[in-house]
Amino acid sequence: MAYSINKENLSSIQNWVSFLAFLLFFGSCTEKAVLPESQVFQLPISKNLADSVPYPTHNQTTKAGVELGRMLFYDPILSANNQISCASCHLQSRAFSDGIALSMMGVSGKKLERHTPTLINLAWNEGLFWDAGAKNLESLAFGPLTHPDEMAQDLAELPAELENRFDYKERFQEAFGVDTIHSALVVRALAQFQRSLISTNSRYDKFIRDETNASFSELEKTGLQIFQQKCEQCHSGDFFTDFQVHNNGLDSIFPMDFENPLQGRYRITLDSADLGKYKTPTLRNIAVTAPYMHDGRFQNLKEVLNHYSSGMRDFETVDSVFRQTDGSPKIPLSESEKTALLAFLETLTDEDFLKNPNFAKPDILK
Ligand code: HEC
Ligand code: HEC
Repeated sequence: MAYSINKENLSSIQNWVSFLAFLLFFGSCTEKAVLPESQVFQLPISKNLADSVPYPTHNQTTKAGVELGRMLFYDPILSANNQISCASCHLQSRAFSDGIALSMMGVSGKKLERHTPTLINLAWNEGLFWDAGAKNLESLAFGPLTHPDEMAQDLAELPAELENRFDYKERFQEAFGVDTIHSALVVRALAQFQRSLISTNSRYDKFIRDETNASFSELEKTGLQIFQQKCEQCHSGDFFTDFQVHNNGLDSIFPMDFENPLQGRYRITLDSADLGKYKTPTLRNIAVTAPYMHDGRFQNLKEVLNHYSSGMRDFETVDSVFRQTDGSPKIPLSESEKTALLAFLETLTDEDFLKNPNFAKPDILK
């Protein structure tokens, strides 16, 4: 597929330029921490994942901040037509992905160019978006909020809209100690809520923690072993991601126009060594987050395994881990190994996460 810079691309580039100017202005506020460490809200976490949840000093986690962020995440007032919220595309029942390859849920109704990823354990994730091009949850939120094909919100209008709605004024006061609502605080609250989206209670976690009644079938144990041999290089540790970018052989031809999302990490670095590289996605809750990959091209996990075993396309940036002795990229997998891997991947489903009432739509918005 060939692309060229047309009027639409140009207007989206202009949009990004104004967005970047905005970021430079607000992103540079280096505010001091407002709370003593002891008053920071400790998000519940299990030791097998990490000892504590990281947060930036200018946006410490508070209970009021997380709750406000949850309201905002589900509130369509954040979009130009007041009909689209973050949760229109990020659904809790699907681990905050959306079940479709490329969404048309945005205000413009135009198809997006990348698949909606899950929102899981993002507090530890230093590169956000499929190309790891966004550095933190605070600045990232300006992207979907203002993008014409997502929420298309005029940020200058947003504070006034919020001041007249529900008890937002009091909530912002409680969370940030301010009398006036500001867009920069909207994204901070959203970030606090998203840092609370922690998944660490799947059957796999209980098995690894050796909890009573936690057990794996022989098939699941075999699947775990195969996973450790063949997948863990990138889907590593209990995050099931190394947080790095790799090319896992999805494409061998790339569009070369400016900032095309199908270039992968190259779009950010313009370094040809990054063509086709995307961030390793977590595999937590993977059984409920089909379709798969940055463009949602695979309908189910069997298709993903078939890709690794016999469908990979060669390109010079394909990760060397995949190179066989004859040079071709693949992960050799027999049918019985695939069956075991699929059984193992199912153990990563975390019902507590998918049903956690603290992550659900607040009653006031139902
Ligand atoms: C119209 C659908 C849509 C809406 C609405 C939407 N998103 Fe997304 N979101 C996406 C898509 C698609 C991506 C992937 C973009 C990319 O990587 O280029 C994404 C990526 C993300 C990521 C990156 C996750 C990761 O692992 O890198 C975060 C965080 C996120 N969105 C948060 C939000 C927040 C907060 C809102 C509301 C302010 C929101 N999204 C609204 C579709 C949407
Ligand atoms: C060299 C690194 C690497 C190895 C090894 C690897 N993966 Fe991946 N995996 C990735 C990357 C990068 C992506 C995202 C690619 C994209 O969307 O463009 C991915 C995507 C996936 C996805 C889709 C996730 C989603 O949310 O869409 C699944 C499932 C998956 N891999 C499973 C596996 C399994 C199972 C193995 C072992 C048989 C494996 N991977 C080995 C790097 C790797």
